[in-house]
Amino acid sequence: MHADIATSHGSEGEELGRIIDGSAIARRIRDKLAVEVAGLAREGIVPGLAVILVGEDPAGAVYVASKERACIEAGMNGITIRLPATTTQAELLTHVRALNDDSAVHGILVQMPLPKQIDPDTVIRAIDPMKDVDGFHPINVGKLLIGEEDGFAPCTPAGVQELLIQSGVNTLGKDIVLIGRSNIVGKPMAALLLQDHLGANATVTICHRYTRDLPSHTRRADILIAAAGRPKLVTADMVKPGVVIIDVGINRVSDPSAPKGYRLVGDVDFDNVRPLASQITPVPKGVGPMTIAMLLKNTVRAATMRAARSAGRSAAATRQPA
Ligand SMILES: NC(=O)c1ccc[n+]([C@@H]2O[C@H](COP(=O)([O-])OP(=O)(O)OC[C@H]3O[C@@H](n4cnc5c(N)ncnc54)[C@H](OP(=O)(O)O)[C@@H]3O)[C@@H](O)[C@H]2O)c1
Repeated sequence: MHADIATSHGSEGEELGRIIDGSAIARRIRDKLAVEVAGLAREGIVPGLAVILVGEDPAGAVYVASKERACIEAGMNGITIRLPATTTQAELLTHVRALNDDSAVHGILVQMPLPKQIDPDTVIRAIDPMKDVDGFHPINVGKLLIGEEDGFAPCTPAGVQELLIQSGVNTLGKDIVLIGRSNIVGKPMAALLLQDHLGANATVTICHRYTRDLPSHTRRADILIAAAGRPKLVTADMVKPGVVIIDVGINRVSDPSAPKGYRLVGDVDFDNVRPLASQITPVPKGVGPMTIAMLLKNTVRAATMRAARSAGRSAAATRQPA
């Protein structure tokens, strides 16, 4: 369905932006991947994802457990290596190298953040780029920037692009404004949207803390992607009617009425912005579920590409819409 025609109505009869249901879209992608994995299994290939978790960070442990469950559900191998917070960089690198050499492992992910004695850049550079399903190795970052499609794009921005495609949002020639320039979200998001490719070909503006007059940029946006990690940064006076809003932010705000004493919100003042938007992602259940779906997709691609290389086939499984 196209963005322009998809709206619903609130209790006062005002038009509300249609919700982009990230959970449902991610579910479809995962179901499709499970079929692909079953096909690979018939050729004797079981895609394997190895995740290394260092330390006891509770949020990291939750993410890692859900990645493992998702792998198993899709018929893949999900291996988790849990290391103590006292692990040295040399010890971690030994584990990474062992996974690089393990033919049953097609994708490697080291959960961030790492304890302070370990340099994340050194660890990322130690991962075999062909197993770097997080897309953070400089080789994959470079491939993404120059538009070489046999690399891996980072999962969250790849998931955002997929949400746009699957929601019928036309990006061609559109003004897309990003808030945030991190290596994990903002910069790779911009690189994806700039390619001469489906779900791209946009005119991209990247904003950050030093951007002068942020609202003057966001008000021009046909599509606004917020990835700042600041609750309610984007308010109704900062957007133009009909805008498509993708809210990447995940922020904990205190809420004594919630069972855990907090709830998760995005960077967008959802209730007040939604009436102006044509489509909008919620938090949670917007971008979040897409990140894991894209991680599985990258791992299946890694396995497919390795099989093609072993068989001497040149046709690489390039990045394609799910
Ligand atoms: N849904 C998911 O799966 C997923 C995945 C990853 C991240 N996230 C969430 O997305 C958010 C961003 O993550 P991240 O890793 O990219 O965070 P990050 O590394 O902290 O980067 C935040 C970016 O936002 C910019 N920024 C912060 N405040 C701003 C302001 N007031 N005006 C303009 N720009 C501002 C920062 O600018 P400077 O560079 O100038 O500091 C920075 O570039 C977080 O809430 C995170 O939890 C969600």
